[in-house]
Amino acid sequence: ADLYGAGRRNSAGVELGHEASLHGLLEEIRAGRAADRVAAPLVDGVAQPGVERPLLAPADAATIVGRVREADEATADRAVEAARRGFRAWERTPAAARAAALEKASDLLEARRGRLLGLLQAEAGKTLDDALAELREAVDFLRYYAAQARSLFGEGEPMPGPTGEDNRLVHRGRGVFLCISPWNFPLAIFLGQVSAALAAGNAVVAKPAEQTPLVAVEAVRALHEAGVPASALQFVTGDGRVGARLVAHRHIAGVAFTGSTETARRINQTLAAKDGPIVPLIAETGGINAMIVDATALPEQVSDDVVTSAFRSAGQRCSALRLLCVQEDVADKMIGMIVGAARELKLGDPQDLSVQVGPVIDAEAKQRLDAHIARLKGSARVHLAEEAPAQGYFVGPHVFELKRQADLTEEIFGPVLHVVRWKAGELPALLDGIEATGYGLTLGVHSRIDATIAQVISRLDVGNCYVNRNMIGAVVGTQPFGGSGLSGTGPKAGGPNYLKRFAVEQTVTVNT
Ligand code: NAD
Ligand code: ALA
Repeated sequence: ADLYGAGRRNSAGVELGHEASLHGLLEEIRAGRAADRVAAPLVDGVAQPGVERPLLAPADAATIVGRVREADEATADRAVEAARRGFRAWERTPAAARAAALEKASDLLEARRGRLLGLLQAEAGKTLDDALAELREAVDFLRYYAAQARSLFGEGEPMPGPTGEDNRLVHRGRGVFLCISPWNFPLAIFLGQVSAALAAGNAVVAKPAEQTPLVAVEAVRALHEAGVPASALQFVTGDGRVGARLVAHRHIAGVAFTGSTETARRINQTLAAKDGPIVPLIAETGGINAMIVDATALPEQVSDDVVTSAFRSAGQRCSALRLLCVQEDVADKMIGMIVGAARELKLGDPQDLSVQVGPVIDAEAKQRLDAHIARLKGSARVHLAEEAPAQGYFVGPHVFELKRQADLTEEIFGPVLHVVRWKAGELPALLDGIEATGYGLTLGVHSRIDATIAQVISRLDVGNCYVNRNMIGAVVGTQPFGGSGLSGTGPKAGGPNYLKRFAVEQTVTVNT
């Protein structure tokens, strides 16, 4: 089976340096803003009633981006029942037809890029660069899983066996798959989960993050228009309470979750306590991601890669760098260069093309970050504390030097970089400390000594290791993404083994 998505088309992308391309794109974004922005729960494609709530722009809380109609528990239940009725017909739809629908949806996303990019900027506070990268990732997920579905879910894999017998391993959908996603990749992660579950022949109940339902409902509309029956893809708005209700439903056959480790644990507990079949959980969660820099590393490259890894997307990537570990001999120089470069970053409304760091997602995120920063101002050495605009939910880039590596015990989801120094001979203890956090998502290594690189990578159970480059922006089909331990269950998104976990296996033996 071709599990590597060979033959698929990559997303087109946009050359922003080309004036006419950029101008055309900005026109499309402007035109996209005119459309009505409402996200309602969709059961069998029909908008459901619910209490309406305004969605505020992270860059300016006085601006209403659109409205969401929140699903209540009864709507959530109806969505699962409807998906259950839709399951068999979708599962029996040939894999090639399911794949064709996903590919058509990917074309629709590209055709509607103006509207989608505008929403990613307004609702999720993304810079144009980040929004474009996210759109590409979403398109790539759709095409990658479509290509895999064709080979994995077709006739089944022939198994070796005795003459006179035909043995095949067939992959089939599980039933109703619940997909719960976060706000930080409201298009790519939302669609990555949903398209994998659909490609595998499941009916899907999709619950986006409460902060970003507008982007998500656009994705659902594209899938419906591309040929995914409304009964096979139900859409449920709402916060964690609605998510918890869905998880507890007796007809959920599998859960794909991306979000915090704490929520993953809660979901796991609910699933374990439920009557009926054992329900698998695919969880992709957070990390306290470290980068190890030794004295042989190239300072300019380190500085560039650290600033990108820690501050791009305002540090709101699960892959982002949280703990920089620099060898003492070069620490002053490296920290000085990083601080100098970070100070130059332009913070502000992401609709301004020159802005490099946008807002954090909401008031709660800002409060959490501000409290952490205030704590560190009293206990750590402050290398950088950039002011943030008063309007909107902004947090300026910060660099703190910790007394001990063990002082960082939780994932800080924003533009805050923590630094520690290590001396020759202390590397093994440093790696022990990183392992002791229990997380294992991304790791960076900057060194020109092969033995050091090998020592670091082999010592740590980390899902994605990046050597002498930045540590964000995994590419679908090239850098399968996901961690272990507190960072998730695997399998890796955008990798050859992801789809199989959304399916059941059936062996068919025919006496010929
Ligand atoms: P979160 O866990 O608060 O919410 C994620 C989703 O879960 C939302 O849709 C939310 O409504 C829902 N939810 C909350 N409580 C629930 C419950 N009890 N039952 C069911 N659903 C519930 O996370 P967040 O703040 O939205 O996202 C940020 C987190 O996501 C960070 O920890 C980040 O590292 C992680 N993340 C991980 C990856 C990855 O691939 N590993 C990618 C992106 C984000
Ligand atoms: N896949 C995203 C990244 O690698 C989270 O940055």
